[in-house]
Amino acid sequence: MERTIRPARRLMGTLTVPGDKSISHRALLLSAIARGSSEISGLAPGADLVSTANCLRALGVAITQAGGRVLVEGRGLKGLRAPAGTLDAGNSGTAMRLLAGLLAAQPFESRLSGDESLRQRPMERIIRPLAQMGAQIESRAGHPPLRISGGPLRGITYKLPVASAQLKSCLLLAGLYAQGHTQIIETQPTRDHTERMLRRLGVPLEISDNCLSLSGPLADDLPACDWPIPGDLSSAAFFIVAAALLPGSDLHLANIGVNPTRTGFLTALRHMGAQIELLREREPAGEPLADLRVQGVPALQAIKLAGSAIPALIDELPLLAVVATQAQGTTVIEDAAELRVKETDRLAAVAKNLRRMGAELEERPDGLIIPGPQPLRGARLSSFNDHRIAMAFAIAGLIATGETVISGAEWADISFPNFYRQLEALRDG
Ligand code: S3P
Repeated sequence: MERTIRPARRLMGTLTVPGDKSISHRALLLSAIARGSSEISGLAPGADLVSTANCLRALGVAITQAGGRVLVEGRGLKGLRAPAGTLDAGNSGTAMRLLAGLLAAQPFESRLSGDESLRQRPMERIIRPLAQMGAQIESRAGHPPLRISGGPLRGITYKLPVASAQLKSCLLLAGLYAQGHTQIIETQPTRDHTERMLRRLGVPLEISDNCLSLSGPLADDLPACDWPIPGDLSSAAFFIVAAALLPGSDLHLANIGVNPTRTGFLTALRHMGAQIELLREREPAGEPLADLRVQGVPALQAIKLAGSAIPALIDELPLLAVVATQAQGTTVIEDAAELRVKETDRLAAVAKNLRRMGAELEERPDGLIIPGPQPLRGARLSSFNDHRIAMAFAIAGLIATGETVISGAEWADISFPNFYRQLEALRDG
């Protein structure tokens, strides 16, 4: 599907964004292996969560929807059933990697696959430690499909070779079942939703500096729990940037997750001069929440993003690259090679689309160098079948001259089914 985006004068109004995708995946998975009925409110509505829910249904878990709530009938730690066919994780790396951690510990064989994009993504990072724990996993040279022969696992000490919350969470889930200590050492902090949720369920997870440690197997089932899901900051990010870049904008966002392992994007934008207020900060169910107010400003400054700052804004980097074209000075993004193995090669996709809009930039193996400010002109762009590229360039279209046409715009549905409608509703001129 093609979508035409016209320049906007400013954004005004109040917005509620979909539930956090990362927390939603975890709420479904943890509820599935808990004992009894868990209720999730505000589950992320995108296709990625449909994939996780369908995989869990194929493993025998009853999941039903009632209004804005999702009910999960947890089968207990040992209650999952062998699936009849291949489990389809669709476009979702989180679904595949976290499920693999659970499946590695089950006394049956399962096959996990996904769409064309997911079948290109690296799985060696989970295969190696899960194999050390005792699982047998066959893959297509480190890529899906995965054939997982699960069984009894043993705890290991493992230093994460990539800063990945998906990998960390995969090993924590396997660690619930493993005999002895599972110790995970992170060299850079990544999103800590799994840790917070396990602690909320009473799992004695020890956290000291950069080391997580867990003793298994758990003696008792996890309890059922209610999971209110905060609004997804990574979805809010598109609107925050649009409002920040269009002077005169005044945008309010309600109930946004502001977990500090996710707010690197807000820190970076504020550093660039954006006016963003966090209001009514609270922590109702183990995850920090706030309302946000964003006002447009006439000019932003360039920034350097590198090192341990990267994981806290990894999903927002395509959008920050769009911001960089409008900032005074040269923005440098380094240490972000992980972007090449997301739903698409996001460094290449951003560079191609920005160049089509007339911008000059340098693409490096692990980042981008973007001088600014540079005017963007409307162009024909591709989503590269990636939700975040589609949405980042819809925002670029708002600040460009002339019309921007995005092909494959419907990929936004992966995380934000109402994205374009919400954007139109908030546009004021
Ligand atoms: C996610 C972690 C990140 C992020 C992805 C969701 C998660 O991936 O890019 O969108 O839910 O754990 P990595 O952990 O692989 O960097």
